[in-house]
Amino acid sequence: MFWPAKSSIRRRLTVQLLVIAAALSLVFFLIVRVIADQAATATQDNILLASATSISDALYSERGAVTVEIPYSALSMLGTISQDRVFYRVSEGGRTLTGYDDLPLPDVAPRAAQSRFDTFLYRGETVRSVAVSRTVSSGGSNVDVTVVVAQTRLGLALISSRISFFAAIFGVLFFLVATALSLLAAQSALSPLERLKQSLQRRGAHDLRPVQAELPDELTPLVDALNNFMGRLRASLAQSEDFIAEAAHRVRTPLAVVRAQAEIALRRVERPENKTSLREMIRAVDESSRSAGQLLDHAMVTFRTDALADDEFDLAVVTKSVCDHLLPTAELKDILLIQQFPDTPCPFRGDAILMQNALRNVLDNALKYSPADSTVHIGVDSDDQGYRISFNDQGRGFGSSDVASLTQRFSRGSNVADIVGSGLGLTIADEVARAHNGRLEISSNPKGPGACVSLIFPQP
Ligand SMILES: Nc1ncnc2c1ncn2[C@@H]1O[C@H](COP(=O)(O)OP(=O)(O)O)[C@@H](O)[C@H]1O
Ligand SMILES: [Mg+2]
Repeated sequence: MFWPAKSSIRRRLTVQLLVIAAALSLVFFLIVRVIADQAATATQDNILLASATSISDALYSERGAVTVEIPYSALSMLGTISQDRVFYRVSEGGRTLTGYDDLPLPDVAPRAAQSRFDTFLYRGETVRSVAVSRTVSSGGSNVDVTVVVAQTRLGLALISSRISFFAAIFGVLFFLVATALSLLAAQSALSPLERLKQSLQRRGAHDLRPVQAELPDELTPLVDALNNFMGRLRASLAQSEDFIAEAAHRVRTPLAVVRAQAEIALRRVERPENKTSLREMIRAVDESSRSAGQLLDHAMVTFRTDALADDEFDLAVVTKSVCDHLLPTAELKDILLIQQFPDTPCPFRGDAILMQNALRNVLDNALKYSPADSTVHIGVDSDDQGYRISFNDQGRGFGSSDVASLTQRFSRGSNVADIVGSGLGLTIADEVARAHNGRLEISSNPKGPGACVSLIFPQP
């Protein structure tokens, strides 16, 4: 049978089973009909033969002539199967002794003690007949007498059509049951595939552990291939994470040396233009090292979200530690960090290192995109819905940037102007928020100019 490669296995299996069920139902129906016909014919034949034999047994010779008196039972027994009409003829050498003159005799008379059955049309109806022969000695000679008994088949046709009717009903019932069973069979045959699908769907986007579901032999090669593929993917991912981490590290170390040397030189040089270019140099080194740090952070975030640590920590405490960590950077620009934490603790479960990373990147942005002498408000709010950690600054805001795309890797806004960056900070924050079932909200500062970036987490 032709099936397009994409067609559903379930449908294919069901249709094939249904075709088989339909064929079996038909065969069942035909077999029952043939058997019923044969049984009915055999029954009629037996009674016809018994009737003809009892007539032939009643033949006797009287005064040199063959005489017969049809026994009552010979005809009454034929009535036992149906109300069909009965014809008989007793003939001696073509001369009818009694019965229907026009009832055909067999072309060749059966030999003594044998019978000959026939089916033909007689007086407009199909009849079944039997002919038996007997030799009667009459007037000193042997005379061959043929007895033919025939009966219409209406009753039998009725019985056989009734049996056919029931056979048809059983055939249809069988087909319906087979249909239901086919659906069940298709369902159960495909259930391992369904299980495999569900076990893969339940996984997190970064879960590349091998599949370990109990599966039938037929699926083992497929799952092995899948596991093998995931293994290679895992290895290649780990390799690239390692590579990025290593690269970031190798870039940052010499940069730190360059920065230190530049600081020393800055103190030594006198001419203002030299000082300016050295400051420029330090700034560029800082940015490069920040970018390298973010690459490292991002690689770590990707890596850690696969197997999230399950630390218990206080969100307010972590937020405060991030603020403390960036306080020197804020002071360099004379930015005031105003922190607002709830009075009650903010217990949370998750990866503390990732959380720190996310908060650091958001605060880093707030400081980076804020002018000197401004204020950044950092607030942790907790209610029965969950937590909201928000960073409000008085900087340039998001302007006309498409905020939805800012969380994409290496995507930077149209408002960045001269500020250097790698476009990974919000990506990191967004990935960490989502790994903790939370989300990142980017909006304008409700209290005037600037940006408002919040991390929102449901109550653990
Ligand atoms: N506090 C903020 N104020 C204004 N714009 C911001 C702020 N935070 C992020 N952005 C915008 O979002 C973009 C993406 O941020 P991020 O992923 O941290 O990359 P970048 O390395 O550019 O800081 C930035 O390029 C900037 O356009
Ligand atoms: Mg940033």
